[in-house]
Amino acid sequence: MKNKVYIETYGCQMNFADSEIVGAILTKEGYGIVSDINEADFILINTCAIRDNAEQRIRKRLRELKALQRQRQWVRIGILGCMAERLQKQLMEEEDNVSFIVGPDAYRKLPEMLGHIKDGEKLAETLLSEVETYADIEPVRYDTNGITAYISIMRGCQNYCAYCVVPYTRGRERSRDPETIVGEARDLFEKGYREVTLLGQNVNSYRWKAESGKQEAESEFVGFPQLMAMVAEVSPLLRVRFATSHPKDLSDELLQVMARYDNICKCIHLPVQSGSERMLKLMNRRYTPEWYLNRIDAIRRYLPTCSITTDVIAGFCSETEEDHQATLEMFRKVRYDYAYMFKFSMRPNTYAAKHLQDDIPDDVKTRRLEEIIALQGEIALENNKKEIGKTYEVLIEGVSHRSEQQLFGRNSQNKVIVFDRGSLEPGQYAMIRVTRCTSATLIGEVVDNK
Ligand code: 5AD
Ligand code: SF4
Repeated sequence: MKNKVYIETYGCQMNFADSEIVGAILTKEGYGIVSDINEADFILINTCAIRDNAEQRIRKRLRELKALQRQRQWVRIGILGCMAERLQKQLMEEEDNVSFIVGPDAYRKLPEMLGHIKDGEKLAETLLSEVETYADIEPVRYDTNGITAYISIMRGCQNYCAYCVVPYTRGRERSRDPETIVGEARDLFEKGYREVTLLGQNVNSYRWKAESGKQEAESEFVGFPQLMAMVAEVSPLLRVRFATSHPKDLSDELLQVMARYDNICKCIHLPVQSGSERMLKLMNRRYTPEWYLNRIDAIRRYLPTCSITTDVIAGFCSETEEDHQATLEMFRKVRYDYAYMFKFSMRPNTYAAKHLQDDIPDDVKTRRLEEIIALQGEIALENNKKEIGKTYEVLIEGVSHRSEQQLFGRNSQNKVIVFDRGSLEPGQYAMIRVTRCTSATLIGEVVDNK
């Protein structure tokens, strides 16, 4: 029976979490997930549509896979995720070696579809849902270190930032039942996992209200701060992280909950996108640079040790040198520990595509991006140098890529620390003193073997 499935994932953490849900749905119906593509009967590619280069990468990958299909002619390729949703049947017409297309809310249909594909059919399922959260599905952690895991807590996004394709590929926002989230965290902890990252496009809009008629309405509402507390209570030995927050609704209440629990990691990813008030307005971000800096002050006030990371876009429509300087200024003020930095890429269907001009020449976008990258590199190195001499509790995640004799882990601030192995093992906590650094990594030594 042809039932071996290989899943290849591109894009954000959400997509990786979705691939684990896909793995669970298929395994339950008798399919097997394989880690060697040469054993596969079905190749599923979970795709990203956020920038044009993400899509080009997938197109290139599809061309490469033609060689494999020539040798194993029964192999069927399916496209999942955001690019499937964005392009739908068009993608199947443009890419002749694709047999099926499945959008992010239709994964429950996969077992049935794979059954049909064997007969040579071509199929597409791209309906978006207002309710699907896959709440009852226990993801199959097939590509795992056994220590850290993602838990998806909500799906979709309706912020409609002017540049962003996500509301069109992932549909309306919906939150998952908190009991199932806490249950999943508890189950992971019992299996030996020591860190969970709660995922959503905008976690601060997490809101759950139980069906009426059960109990008092007041006690039934669960917002994101309450959810974080519930997950943190699973065990003090289980670290809790989350991504991503939108600056417009990063609440003091969340910061207070973060301060209350040692096991909630002190790291906040707060995408700024631009430092210019005019650009932020045009991007429909619904905050000003002043508001953003006020939130940064609040983080520093409640959580003095917290690291802050961001996303930024260079060369959005009509961006002037002055706007770009404002972004650099923002980076100097906040002094991020890490940043994901992108060149603006016009996406079809977005507000920008309908109403704005992609008028910044590519070489200007590149130059501005490089200036941001260079500045951020200096800041990250300076920040890391300040870590030298400090001691952190590190959750050990694995063996260092450089040497068998070294381990690596992260501190609460999500910084990677490499150190000599001694008698320690992945999955343990250890106290590590930082002795050296690069702009990306801290190097340390064990001070106390707990
Ligand atoms: N072009 C460039 N970057 C984008 N992002 C989202 N849409 C685009 C786009 N059209 C970036 C944002 C977002 C991150 C996930 O990707 O910075 O926070
Ligand atoms: Fe994730 Fe957005 Fe890419 Fe979809 S388009 S995979 S939501 S980053």
